[in-house]
Formats: sequence, C-alpha cells, structure tokens
Amino acid sequence: MEAKQLSDQVRVEFLNAIESASDLAALEKLRISVLGKKGRLSELMRALGSLEPKQRQAAGMVFNLLKTELTEAITARRVALDSEQLLADLSEQGMDVTAPARPEQAGTVHPVSQVLDELTEIFADMGFVVAEGPDIETEFNNFTALNIPPEHPARQMHDTFYFREKKDGARPVLRTHTSPVQIRTMTSESPPHRIIIPGRTYRHDYDITHTPMFHQLEGLVIDRDIHMGHLKGCLIDFARLFFEVEDLPLRFRPSYFPFTEPSAEVDIGCSIKDGVRHIGAGEEWMEILGCGMVNPRVLQNCGLDPSEWQGFAFGVGIDRIAMLKYGIRDLRGFFDCDLRWLKNYGFSALDLPTLGQGLSR
Ligand code: PHE
Repeated sequence: MEAKQLSDQVRVEFLNAIESASDLAALEKLRISVLGKKGRLSELMRALGSLEPKQRQAAGMVFNLLKTELTEAITARRVALDSEQLLADLSEQGMDVTAPARPEQAGTVHPVSQVLDELTEIFADMGFVVAEGPDIETEFNNFTALNIPPEHPARQMHDTFYFREKKDGARPVLRTHTSPVQIRTMTSESPPHRIIIPGRTYRHDYDITHTPMFHQLEGLVIDRDIHMGHLKGCLIDFARLFFEVEDLPLRFRPSYFPFTEPSAEVDIGCSIKDGVRHIGAGEEWMEILGCGMVNPRVLQNCGLDPSEWQGFAFGVGIDRIAMLKYGIRDLRGFFDCDLRWLKNYGFSALDLPTLGQGLSR
C-alpha cells in the first residue's frame, strides 16, 4: 500500500479515537498504541528501511507530518480533559471557604523605628524638618566647632571611637552625638533653622543601659529673638505628647554642655510601684534629655552673628525614651536581632501609631 493511503488510514482511525477518548488513562493508552515504541506509526516508520532511498524520503515526510498531527491532537485532548476534570472536581467538592488560610509571617516594627515615627510626628507638627549627617565625622564637627576643646574629657579614648590618623594628621571619629549635624546645617544653609536630626551615635560603653551604638534625636532652632521660654515650651509640649500624660511634670535642672549656655537637663515625674516605673506625677524624677541655648561661640564658629541670631538645641536618646515609654528593661535586646524579642516588643505595621491612639483618647 502507498504511504499516503496508509497514513490516511491511521489518521482517520486515531484522530477519531483521540477526539472521543473519555479520560486521561484512555488517552495515554491510545498514545502508546500509535506513537509508542511498538505503536502503529512507529512500526510503519521502521518499515521504511526496506524502501528505495527516494521512496523512503517521500514516505518519511508523510509519516512525520502525521506524527506531528497526532501529537498535537493528543496534547489538545489532554488539555481539554484536564479542565473538564477540574470543573468536575470543583462542582463535586465545592470550595471550602472555611479552610484555614496559609500561615503568613507578619513582620513587626522595631521599637526604635516606632519611637522615631512618633517623635517625627510630634516635631513635624511644630514645624521642624528632618536633617541628617554621616556616622563618620571630623573632629572639627564632632568636637571643636561645638566648643569642645582638645583637653575636654569627652575626647578621651575611653569615650570616643577614633579612626587611624590620616597622613594629614586628621583623625575621623564615629560621631559621639548627633550635634555635629548642627554644625553641618549652620555652615551650609542660612538661618532660620528648625530641624530635628535622628541618627546613630557611638560611644565606648556596654552595660544594661549602654550599647556602643545607640540612637539620638537632636533638635535645633535658630532664629531672631529666640529665648529660654521657647525652649521650655517646646520641650514641655514634646514630653507630654510623647509620654501621653497631659499634666506630666517636667523639671529643668541646670547642667553643663560646652555647646549650650545656659544648659539644662530635663527630668520627668514618675513613681515606682512594685519595681515598675509609672510615668506621671510622683515622688521620683527621671532624666530624659539635655538641652540649652546655643552657645554664642558655636554660632560664631559657624559664621553667624550672635547679636542677630539665637537659638536652642536639645538631644534625646531615642532608645532610652523607648525603654521608658514601653517598659523595656535591657537596652542590649534592642540590637541582638532576636526575633522572639521583636515579636514581644515590636509593633504591628498595620496598627495606627500608639501616639495617634493616645492623643485621641
Ligand atoms: N549632645 C549632647 C549629648 O550627646 C546632648 C545635647 C544636645 C545637649 C543639644 C544640649 C543640646 O549628650
């Protein structure tokens, strides 16, 4: 028989059978019986070996075309059977809307990030904008320009992380506070300024309330006719909003910083019951920040005329007030990267900020 005739015979027989195959098992059987090693088409192709080269080539082409045609038909039928099966399964079993959802790992917001958001919200409402600076600073910005002379104890090795001395004699430091960004701001932009500066700071220290890296938020206001009353009003508002205690008592205790004059440390009222600290009027005081009027020498170091411009500055430990507000006892846990700690002390990213809740209560 001619190759063409044989091919047509097989085509008619199998295309019909494939079309009417009722399930995947029947389809697979058909595939094997025509395309399998011992299948009909494979046998026909094997028989080509005994033909003359010319005839062999012509017949080979005919059978190859048929092979492609049958393979495509089988694939199409398989897809159709698959989706029929899926529809049947779905209508038979229905969809179980009560099935538990796949467990999802929800992340939490670190207390430092949470408190930073709260602080930014409070100071943004007072018209402050955020400024930033590098962690590696010059001795000039970190100390000298801030009126901290070389013999000042803050410069001693036990406090400050110094880098190796450069060829030109400069010794960069890991900034020991966020105050150098005061200098960066005042020397690069003209006043007035109303900025907060959050960032990482570094000191050679390690115990339950000190880690070598910690976070500060600096505030700086420079304008005409700024006085101590502005400083007090700003910080009283801040502390009451942050700790969510409307009549929180504050105490401005005289202190000393080389870059402010006069200087003060701010304490908030609290009480301790059964070893737990409660923030609000009580018999105890708790220090939360340092502040003061910007020292005229600092203004001069930045090229500002102190008779024209005045201002105040403050620096608060972000981790420290986070510990206070949220009752976290050991600072070291903040930086251990232990997920169990974060699950316990972290905040849901989807909740309203506690600050918002506290203020509207
Ligand atoms: N820089 C000071 C410190 O780290 C804090 C401070 C900032 C005090 C601004 C006064 C004014 O201790």
